[in-house]
Amino acid sequence: MQVIKTKEYAEMSHVAGVIAEGLIRQKPNAVLGLATGSTPLGLYAHLVKAHQQNGLDFRHVTTFNLDEYLDLPKEHPQSYHTFMEENLFQYVNISSEHIHFPDEDYDAIEENAEAYDARIHRAGGIDLQVLGIGRNGHIAFNEPAEELAFFTSRVTLTPSTREANARFFSSVEEVPTHAVSSGMGTILQARHLLILANGEDKRDAVSRLLDGHTLTTDCPVTFALMHPHVTLIVDEAAAGC
Ligand code: F6R
Repeated sequence: MQVIKTKEYAEMSHVAGVIAEGLIRQKPNAVLGLATGSTPLGLYAHLVKAHQQNGLDFRHVTTFNLDEYLDLPKEHPQSYHTFMEENLFQYVNISSEHIHFPDEDYDAIEENAEAYDARIHRAGGIDLQVLGIGRNGHIAFNEPAEELAFFTSRVTLTPSTREANARFFSSVEEVPTHAVSSGMGTILQARHLLILANGEDKRDAVSRLLDGHTLTTDCPVTFALMHPHVTLIVDEAAAGC
């Protein structure tokens, strides 16, 4: 695991942006795995700027988002479809046919757990998977539990995640209780994991990664320790120094 310690959020985002931009320049038909939440906002702003000012071309790029809430219309201001549209997709020349979210396969997933994973596979697999970390160590919505799902599936959000995400809604009751989330296998099959963490409330999860000794379903991000190509970019607050 390559660990890059940065001073603060802006630097973390810049370093991540350079990596993602470099991939798209080198492989114009790159397949990106994307996260929502506050962590990757600066990375997406970097990509938008690279497109608008330096011609970064998204025409042949394909994206697969990690997760989406269930029981929230796509058009809802807090849906992950809306988030991606508002923070990246509307500003770049990506083709709408190349954009994927796991809920599009929800009915298929109910029948066949591998449906979204099969779609990713058909696209050639994910070249770069962007990941934020939940305060409780979750990645996508793979919450700490005795068992973790391998494939993309319907998940129940923990009270701690609903509380953490309540900042985007008017109250915690409005936060959906369920989501469709990429599984641990879906994520770990990406060729390169780009894990970003900033702020003090990510310190526990980050310290488990930096410690590097234990994989535990109590802290799903620790499974990234098994992956051969991980870049972890942290700011000082998350790194605890
Ligand atoms: C979002 C996602 C989540 C977030 C995590 C951190 O698509 O998969 O795992 O990455 O909850 O959220 P923020 O970045 O808001 O702290």
